[in-house]
Amino acid sequence: MGAEPPAVVSIEPVPLARPVLGEAEEQAILEVLRSGQLSLGPRVPAFERAFAECVGAPLASAVSSGTAGLHLALRAAGVGEGDEVITSPLSFVASANVAVYERARPVFADIDPLTLNLDPQAAAAVVTERTRALLPVHIFGYPADMPAFEQLAASHGLAIVEDACEALGAQHPDGTPVGGRGHPAVFGFYANKQLTTGEGGMITLGDSAQKERIDSERNQGRAPDMGWLDHDRLGFNYRLSDIACALGIAQLERLEEMLAARSLLAERYRGALAGIDELELPCPDEGGNTRGWFVFVVQLPRGVDRDETVRALAAAGIQSKPYLPAIHLMSFYRERFGHRAGEFPVCEDVAARSLALPFFPQMNEGQVARVAEGLGAALGQ
Ligand SMILES: Cc1ncc(COP(=O)(O)O)c(C=O)c1O
Repeated sequence: MGAEPPAVVSIEPVPLARPVLGEAEEQAILEVLRSGQLSLGPRVPAFERAFAECVGAPLASAVSSGTAGLHLALRAAGVGEGDEVITSPLSFVASANVAVYERARPVFADIDPLTLNLDPQAAAAVVTERTRALLPVHIFGYPADMPAFEQLAASHGLAIVEDACEALGAQHPDGTPVGGRGHPAVFGFYANKQLTTGEGGMITLGDSAQKERIDSERNQGRAPDMGWLDHDRLGFNYRLSDIACALGIAQLERLEEMLAARSLLAERYRGALAGIDELELPCPDEGGNTRGWFVFVVQLPRGVDRDETVRALAAAGIQSKPYLPAIHLMSFYRERFGHRAGEFPVCEDVAARSLALPFFPQMNEGQVARVAEGLGAALGQ
């Protein structure tokens, strides 16, 4: 007789992200269903008011996604055909795509190696007479250097649109929440975000004429006083439903708790990963900036085979993902704008080594330890 087969220990896999939805959200959705008003109802302005207050912005407009919000914000900022929009090559592709939607050109500049955000000096170096707007991204929830971008915008008469899709809960050194500086800032509510409505987004802003335009354009070009099928400008269907807004309102009520759970998790990761040689962790808060924790992205040591690391982690039941690829090296951007490797060396180095680890508020200490052990083992340590 052969030896007994080893006992199969079933280990629950650790996913990359998981939304936190509870009874409050179920109740909120039920109320909307019972009200019969699933769209264009009272939850939309209620969510907008609550969100604006949360980030200290005068106004807000709810939209169907972060991408839709960025698109409408750029249009409201006056970006059009032939304009240039300076932005970060290390971002989710939508922040550059929205300029292309308007037949404008996204112009990339390299990133800061520490914060991984668009470097204001690099941005200043690519301003031309065609530059119309700056579109800094608060990547991985770390605040971009808005005072520097505001100065640059003022000295060249440029508009600013902030991509805050990953940065709910972040704060600038002067205590302003990200999204509360007056110019349009766009948040995203996809399922992996700090606050989720499944799909959704919000533009915070200070200019009521811009809000009027955005609200009309998200609703097929219809002004609030116009009837169904009346349209006085080109518009889109970028509306957010009342069901989604109800979900958002319910989560805003316990946002602090949700953000605190993410911060605690990030601290646990820092402790658990500290012993892995040459692994670079997300930069700690510096100079009064506060990160709004969204993902936990590490940079693998140079020379490590990242695909192999992802496979080894997957074999241990741990999801991970290269995050983010450099936008300018994606095939569409290479072909349309002639980009090639070597243009933005800091971004390219970071993009080649970045790995997002599982990160969601319900993760427990045991799971963090498992990820850390799995990563250490995958790196041969
Ligand atoms: C930096 C950044 N910009 C834009 C977006 C687009 O948001 P959405 O997926 O809601 O359209 C996202 C989110 O996925 C993002 O992370």
